[in-house]
Amino acid sequence: MHRQADDAHPELRAALDHLLAAGGKRIRPTLSLLTGRMLGAPRDRLVILAAAVELLHTATLVHDDLIDGALLRRGNPTMNAQWSPPATVLTGDFVFARAAKLAAETDHLPLMKLFAETLATIVNGELTQLLSARGLTNREDYYKRIHAKTASLLEMTTRAAAMISPVGEAETESMRVYGYNLGMAFQIVDDVLDFTGEQAEVGKPVGSDLLQGLVTLPAIYYAETHPDDPDIICLTSGCYSEHERMERLVHAVRKSDGVKKSLEEARGFIEKALAPLAGMPGGVEHEALASLARYTVSRRS
Ligand code: IPE
Ligand code: IPE
Ligand code: MG
Ligand code: MG
Repeated sequence: MHRQADDAHPELRAALDHLLAAGGKRIRPTLSLLTGRMLGAPRDRLVILAAAVELLHTATLVHDDLIDGALLRRGNPTMNAQWSPPATVLTGDFVFARAAKLAAETDHLPLMKLFAETLATIVNGELTQLLSARGLTNREDYYKRIHAKTASLLEMTTRAAAMISPVGEAETESMRVYGYNLGMAFQIVDDVLDFTGEQAEVGKPVGSDLLQGLVTLPAIYYAETHPDDPDIICLTSGCYSEHERMERLVHAVRKSDGVKKSLEEARGFIEKALAPLAGMPGGVEHEALASLARYTVSRRS
């Protein structure tokens, strides 16, 4: 991943090093490596896929933080906190390009198509959220949103790792289903952490979704059980820019059982992720994929 900026402008090289040095949980490459090792994928191709996926994720974060005006990521200042929007956009573009190049180096056409499709899904999801998701308390809309922005990439990761392994359609489909459900749970927990997390632990701003008019699962549960709360009525009619109201709503959601119910729902997705995993070859990778799924709902960052 570091080598991808070897021939780039020194500032871009420094930027990529800075982005990668902060680490992050590296869940996506871990998923790819574990799935591929479990299913017998060739090691060199698998490593390239893992790097491609993590770089794609990194690029989406660079753009996402600019879009969200977020100043903190992985405990560090974001690109957009230090650079102009044009420089930030171009850095993200560069990282996208290198992710695509790595994906191409797997020399697997269906994988490349899947990679491009997934990027299109993510971008379309981010744009939908940006242009038409504010103040929406609709569940169906929420599930579509979290699939597009997060689950689609985890789904792609495990599916792609199976695609380059010597297995058939059924195993590939099982690993896709694992990745999809894990991804849905992962984003629900991310949305819970926005209400319950500590910024120092999470490494990025918390309590910020509602302030941006983004209604996530804990708030949806709250809205369903408190339809007459004036702040909810106000939110759905577009007044999320009233900071005081939204702060009050954040507190109300935190105190409600929306958090608990959301975590229960995330656990439900994890059960659905574990079911297809049961049919996969046993061994340390299988065990690790199972514990990674369980970790997803207990994580605090
Ligand atoms: C952050 O993803 C963006 C989401 C899709 C929630 P991660 O929580 O995996 O971020 P890092 O890579 O560990 O920082
Ligand atoms: C991040 O979405 C998803 C993508 C980068 C596509 P969010 O804006 O909800 O995630 P965080 O909280 O900034 O990580
Ligand atoms: Mg964000
Ligand atoms: Mg965002």
